[in-house]
Amino acid sequence: MPWVIRDAVKDINKAAARRWQELDPLLPQPNDLPEGCMAPLLSLGENGRPSGLGVCRHQHVAADTLAQTWGAATKFVLTMRLREADTEPAVDDLLTQWREHLADQPEARKDDTAAIVNWPARDVTGVLALLRHGLQPMSVIAVRPPGRPSPADNKGPADNKGPADRPSPAGTQPGLVIRPAGPADLDAVTELEMGVVRYDAHFGGSVPRPATEALVRAETQAALAKRPGWTWLAEHDGQPVALAVVEPPDAATWIAGMTRPGATAYLQTMFVRPGERSAGTGAALVKHVHKELDTRRINLTLLHYAQVNPLSAPFWHRMGYRPLWSTWEARPACALR
Ligand SMILES: CC(C)(COP(=O)(O)OP(=O)(O)OC[C@H]1O[C@@H](n2cnc3c(N)ncnc32)[C@H](O)[C@@H]1OP(=O)(O)O)[C@@H](O)C(=O)NCCC(=O)NCCS
Repeated sequence: MPWVIRDAVKDINKAAARRWQELDPLLPQPNDLPEGCMAPLLSLGENGRPSGLGVCRHQHVAADTLAQTWGAATKFVLTMRLREADTEPAVDDLLTQWREHLADQPEARKDDTAAIVNWPARDVTGVLALLRHGLQPMSVIAVRPPGRPSPADNKGPADNKGPADRPSPAGTQPGLVIRPAGPADLDAVTELEMGVVRYDAHFGGSVPRPATEALVRAETQAALAKRPGWTWLAEHDGQPVALAVVEPPDAATWIAGMTRPGATAYLQTMFVRPGERSAGTGAALVKHVHKELDTRRINLTLLHYAQVNPLSAPFWHRMGYRPLWSTWEARPACALR
């Protein structure tokens, strides 16, 4: 990287670190920019000083990995660092340059591609530029901040339902048994995992592939053997009705850098069978999982939900999570304007 760019990176990263901490104390320190497919895109402010940098990476997600079920097969990811409090002009400029770069990539015209930007959820200043360039808010990385009470500690949603309509407070459920899953539960866990894949497909959050079910099964088998105690089933009358799966910190390093340092876990799966929903099962399971995570000294928990999933977004907010990053995508990548 030429020294002019290296100095600009250092300088802008310093300014971005200040901005991020002011915006949201749960954002990480901006790390060094990743190696891109070319020299970083550069945006100059009115005074001729660099006001923004963007690095484009091309990622080919292998068909024999589960990662291909959670997005496009080819991803063009732009990482931006911005200096000014009002990010819009620099974002506009960088996205214009990025669109020109993608227009030169024949691969970006293929169907199974996406142009992707991860954006700090509380940085509202650049949102209009993202929209103007044809990006859509697809998903959210939400965080449960340290010390957040679990759902049962809340009084429950304020509404007009009396005790007859709401048989038990949110987070408790008579007759519900919650237990860790083991290798013998492979079929049940795989089936419930597939429930999330199928439900999220409605919002483009997942892209079911021919290999998905076999890969889910293999990954579930490995996780149940390798990480006992991080998958839970909720049962009614001995029948599994809900599933929660957490990646412990040593398996969640791929996403832990999206928040500040700490013992960070990733809540990978949460699913309640359709006929069992809206009765407190989900809240009871999450309450149980949070208690376990608190005991294991996890202080930050991350999860993804699809922006327009009508069930999960309100549910997670009620369970103490809030947006940390939003992920914006143009699919296919050439749809970037
Ligand atoms: C999101 C999901 C896990 C929530 O599970 P759930 O068991 O329905 O959750 P809860 O019942 O605890 O809470 C949901 C609703 O029940 C209400 N509720 C909670 N406790 C209750 C009780 N004891 N009695 C009656 N109602 C209750 C809540 O207020 C809430 O009301 P709403 O239906 O008007 O939104 C479930 O809807 C699901 O599996 N969705 C499909 C897959 C999915 O989206 N997974 C998450 C991917 S990120």
